[in-house]
Amino acid sequence: MKVLLDADTGVDDALGILYLAHAQHQGLVDVIACGTVGGNIHVDLSTRNTLKLWELVGLDIPVAAGANKPLLAPLHEAKHVHGDDGLADTNLEPPVRQPTDEHAVDQIIRLSHEYPEELTLLAFGPLTNLGVAFVRDPHLAERVQRVILMGGCVTGGNVTPVAEANIANDPEAARMVFTSGVPITMIGLDVTHQTYLLEEDLKPLQRLDNERARFALQLMRFMMNAYHELGYEPPLCVLHDPLSAGVCVYPDLVRTDKYHVEVETRGQFTRGMTIADRRPRPTYEPTVDVALEVDAQRFVDNFMEAILWWMQGGEKQLG
Ligand code: RIB
Ligand code: CA
Repeated sequence: MKVLLDADTGVDDALGILYLAHAQHQGLVDVIACGTVGGNIHVDLSTRNTLKLWELVGLDIPVAAGANKPLLAPLHEAKHVHGDDGLADTNLEPPVRQPTDEHAVDQIIRLSHEYPEELTLLAFGPLTNLGVAFVRDPHLAERVQRVILMGGCVTGGNVTPVAEANIANDPEAARMVFTSGVPITMIGLDVTHQTYLLEEDLKPLQRLDNERARFALQLMRFMMNAYHELGYEPPLCVLHDPLSAGVCVYPDLVRTDKYHVEVETRGQFTRGMTIADRRPRPTYEPTVDVALEVDAQRFVDNFMEAILWWMQGGEKQLG
C-alpha cells in the first residue's frame, strides 16, 4: 500500500513514525513521502521533527513542508502536551536533510497522478494541506484510494467537550476533506483513547539502556505527565496517531460503521465538532467509516513490538 503521511510531528506523531518504520521494514506499507502541517507546534518545527524522525529510523523519505497556519482561525499549539520543541523537550540535534522544494499540497496532487487509485493519505494532524488539495483539484478524490485520519470523535472531545484537537485546529479544512467524496476512515478519540500505555507497560523498554530507549521513554513519559496535568488518572501515554498508522497496516484492528459526518464550523460551543448522523434513515448518504471499537490489546502489543525493534537497532541489523 502506497502511503503519503501528513503530520504535525509532536510526541504521538513521532511514535507513529517509529511504528510505521517497523511496518515499512517488514514490507507491510510503503510510505513514499511525507508532508508537514502546523498543529501541535508551528510547521517549521513539525518539519524539522519529521525530518529528524525519518532520519532516526534510517529511512530516506522525502518531506515537503506544508501550511503554516489553519485556513481561517489562529493556530492553537499544544506545547504543554508535546514540549517546546514538539518532541518532549529532548532537544535533538537538527536533522541532516532539508525539506524538498515542493509544497505539501503540490506533493499530494503530484503523487495522486503518479499513483492513481493507489494512494492512501494518512493524516496525523490538522487537515489544512489535504483540504486545500481537495479544493484545488476537484478530481483528486477520484484518484486517492482512501484518507485515514486521526481526528474527530462522536462520544466526546479533548480540546473542548465536543471537539478533537486536529479537527478543532482547522474545521474549515476538515470540512473540505469530509465533503470531497473521498473514502474516509475516521480514527477518532472514541478508539484512540482506548489505546494507551501506563507506566507499568514501560518496564520492557526500561531494561534497554541505550540512547534510542531513553528518547522513546522521554516521549512517552512527557505525554503521561501532560495527561496527568490534564486530569487523567492514572497518567496515560495515549497512542492517537500510532493507532491511525496501525489501522493503515491492519484495517481489522477497528470495527467501523458508515455514517454521514458533518464538521461544525460556526457553533460558539461546538466549533470543530464532528457530527455523525447515526439515525437509521440519515438525511445524506453515509460516506465515512467511523471507528467505534478497537482491539486495544492487539494494537498495544503490536506497537510495543515495533518500538522494541527500533530500540534494539532493528533496521541496522538488516543487510
Ligand atoms: O487529538 C489528538 C491529536 O492531536 C494527535 O494527532 C496529536 O498529535 C494532536 O495533533
Ligand atoms: Ca498529530
